[in-house]
Amino acid sequence: MIKQDACSQLNLKKCIKMKRLICYLPMLLLLIIVFSSCGNNTNKTSNTITTTDSTKTGVMQKDWGEVDGKKVYIYTLTNKNGVQVTISNYGGTVTSWITPDKNGNKSSIIIGFDSLQGYLQKPPYFGALIGRYGNRIGNAKFTLDGKTYQLAANDGKNHLHGGIKGFDKVVWDASIGDTSTPSLTLHYMSKDGEEGYPGNLHVTVQYTLTDNDELKIEYNAETDKPTPVNLTNHSYFNLTGDVSNTILNHTLMIDANNFTPVDNTLIPTGEIKSVKGTPFDFTQPKKISKDINAVKGGYDHNWVLKRKDSSLKRVAVLSDSISGRTLEIYTTEPGLQFYTGNFLDGKFKNRDGKPINQHMALCMETQHFPDSPNKPKFPSTILKPGEKYHTVTVYKVVSSER
Ligand code: BGC
Repeated sequence: MIKQDACSQLNLKKCIKMKRLICYLPMLLLLIIVFSSCGNNTNKTSNTITTTDSTKTGVMQKDWGEVDGKKVYIYTLTNKNGVQVTISNYGGTVTSWITPDKNGNKSSIIIGFDSLQGYLQKPPYFGALIGRYGNRIGNAKFTLDGKTYQLAANDGKNHLHGGIKGFDKVVWDASIGDTSTPSLTLHYMSKDGEEGYPGNLHVTVQYTLTDNDELKIEYNAETDKPTPVNLTNHSYFNLTGDVSNTILNHTLMIDANNFTPVDNTLIPTGEIKSVKGTPFDFTQPKKISKDINAVKGGYDHNWVLKRKDSSLKRVAVLSDSISGRTLEIYTTEPGLQFYTGNFLDGKFKNRDGKPINQHMALCMETQHFPDSPNKPKFPSTILKPGEKYHTVTVYKVVSSER
């Protein structure tokens, strides 16, 4: 009755138009909802980049905070097997790698935190991108083309992992890849003089999670003045996915006949020594616990990888019988720093609140040899203007199930 009354007071034509509009309104709303949800899930045509659903293949981006006035994000890369790697543009840090064990139970084989706050407490390079120089430079100095450069001394008198504010503590620019394989590209411009290094260095690192459960890391750099460059990733692995289990029961093979002995400040002596008959012999798969006690402080050394050229090659295999997981490491680099988490002391707690104690995680850092700028006999780490720094490392998880 009221409706009819209202209508009769209005012009009849206007009234009919209004009624039609009311009829079409639900359809219109439906169309808007469909289009906007498509936009949320996929913002590129060729891939399935999702901003709302981390269970789908693709890359999900989430706000994670702010550092130095720059936005920090956490990206979840998911492949078609449901394996996930999370990476932040703060320090280019790999914060987790969630993969199933032999029983199909999922857990992270990389230690770390679920919040940015954890990383701001300066843990010892958990999952971080390391630069400009992976590992130590003796006396925090080197001489290049007749000029001596003084670097930041942040490990006693030595320089470690790029200095006080290395690439692990800066916010990188990030862009999500536009191929069907989930990837994240990070860029950082390290200024001339930063931490004492010469030259403006443009660094680009691409992380890709393939459907073969490989985390591929491609490092690229260019400079405008000669400078040492040695980039690596500092993920700490525990293949059991639980830091209450030691990594000493993991089995390791390193395809290297030689290693570089160090002095008591962990600077290479310059010698290249055969592993034969020493605790450093991992040419055949061996439990890490077997000889570790014969090495003062535990393993924290560079292995000279057996190689004929700089092609991508399998250089190490790590396996764990508890989880049935195996990690294969491929690289184009000549060296591998194998570090058994000797300085971990329970100060930092893993994402599940469990303390990360000594030997509860290990690092397999593919790189050039430590202190190369002061060791003329080691392969050169000097990048010159006009040259392109390009190295590739692949970590591949093989599970005994699936
Ligand atoms: C070094 C260790 C150091 C660790 C964390 C490793 O790459 O070889 O000596 O303690 O990084 O900083």
